[in-house]
Amino acid sequence: MSRSAHPAGPRHADVLPEGRSVASAAPPADPNALDPKVWAQTVARNADGVVTVGGVDVNALAAQVGTPAYVLDEADFRARARAWRTAFGHDADVFYAGKAFLSRAVVRWLDEEGLNLDVCSGGELATALSAGLSPDRIAFHGNNKTPAEIRRAVEAGVGRIVLDSFQEIVRVAHIARELDKRQRVQIRVTVGVEAHTHEFIATAHEDQKFGIPLAGGQAAEAVRRALQLDSLDVIGIHSHIGSQIFDMSGFEVAAHRVVGLLKDIRDEHGVELPEIDLGGGLGIAYTSEDDPREPHEIAKALTEIVTRECESARLRTPRISVEPGRAIAGPTTFTLYEVGTVKPLEGLRTYVSVDGGMSDNIRTALYDAEYSVALASRTSDAEPMLVRVVGKHCESGDIVVKDAFLPADLAPGDLIAVPATGAYCRSMASNYNHALRPPVVAVRDGEARVIVRRESEEDLLRLDVG
Ligand code: LLP
Repeated sequence: MSRSAHPAGPRHADVLPEGRSVASAAPPADPNALDPKVWAQTVARNADGVVTVGGVDVNALAAQVGTPAYVLDEADFRARARAWRTAFGHDADVFYAGKAFLSRAVVRWLDEEGLNLDVCSGGELATALSAGLSPDRIAFHGNNKTPAEIRRAVEAGVGRIVLDSFQEIVRVAHIARELDKRQRVQIRVTVGVEAHTHEFIATAHEDQKFGIPLAGGQAAEAVRRALQLDSLDVIGIHSHIGSQIFDMSGFEVAAHRVVGLLKDIRDEHGVELPEIDLGGGLGIAYTSEDDPREPHEIAKALTEIVTRECESARLRTPRISVEPGRAIAGPTTFTLYEVGTVKPLEGLRTYVSVDGGMSDNIRTALYDAEYSVALASRTSDAEPMLVRVVGKHCESGDIVVKDAFLPADLAPGDLIAVPATGAYCRSMASNYNHALRPPVVAVRDGEARVIVRRESEEDLLRLDVG
């Protein structure tokens, strides 16, 4: 996702957006085909050409729950969660990053599939606890947890709090002491890796708000201080280098540097910290051009490097944990929209307006993210046309899919689906223009179940107490 500046206004249809190859702008060979790379496992077309997921067709779904809607393939979600669990085996832990998408149903699926949960706010913690997840399977993150959030987490007995600053070390120690508890903690360090991703979602270079830099001995000093505090049980070091990453080398450098710190800690304090967490960040396919790595590949690479580095430093190999969010939730879901208008601008481009937009998917506006799209309510033999799919918000940057092909006979009332919207779409949704946030519908074995309902005007007005 390059963040090259380009004019927000319309461009000629034959001018390719920056960063996209000519190949990617060529019309697809079969415009009705659904590339399994970007669609959830059970997505297919039925004999009438209608897109189905979990055995339910999108026309029936739209009739049942309306549009826009996030449609989540439960079998796919569970399969991805299980793939991570299996890849890392019993000597490691997988904490799903709830910020990608969290609801009580999701918490129960994770619980059943043997995953733990990373939360980063009081709200996420409350969701996890209300779904009955055992608190010792929860990791609590954030660069500025409030004292109230910390107190709630310590009282609940969360398995670990990931400390992000010198002040927080003292704050958590103090609250744990007051509650007469010894809190298990990890210390989040920034390892100085430049992850190859969008600058807004890279988190391991030093000039940024997360973590404590390894550079200049600051992380070592943080460990020194934390080890002195009786109410803290320092169990390990945490590193998260960024998100939507395809290149494994950043993870490997991070693992190498974290093990280096473990060695320094052993040499200075005679303590071998038992755990390291290497965060999340594995990229997914948003378009057919993306080639993501599989969980077993990252598991193998991380396990090998940690084992090797520990052997050479003569350290006991720590228990590894990881925190995938996008790689589990992202591919499970597509957003179903109804086309409202199709507006060809002579010599420029064709705008397809849908009944949602930046309020249900801010990622295109925020990160220049690329998405795919398909006509879902039917197939078409019409010529493909290059379009821009836009929302209904009062902003020209309200773009859902920057450049994509849809059939030239596309018309109001058609349903279109945008795949790979399971991560950071509902969780970053807003009420801009008093939009009502769409529901999340989980589909499985021929049944659709609303797991997060659509917001209503009453929901909006309930908050307006003036
Ligand atoms: N662990 C920590 C400490 C994190 O901060 C994150 C993501 C994850 C794990 C999960 O990363 P994932 O596996 O999902 O890449 N809103 C942005 C992504 C922000 C990621 C923030 N932290 C987006 O839509 O691309």
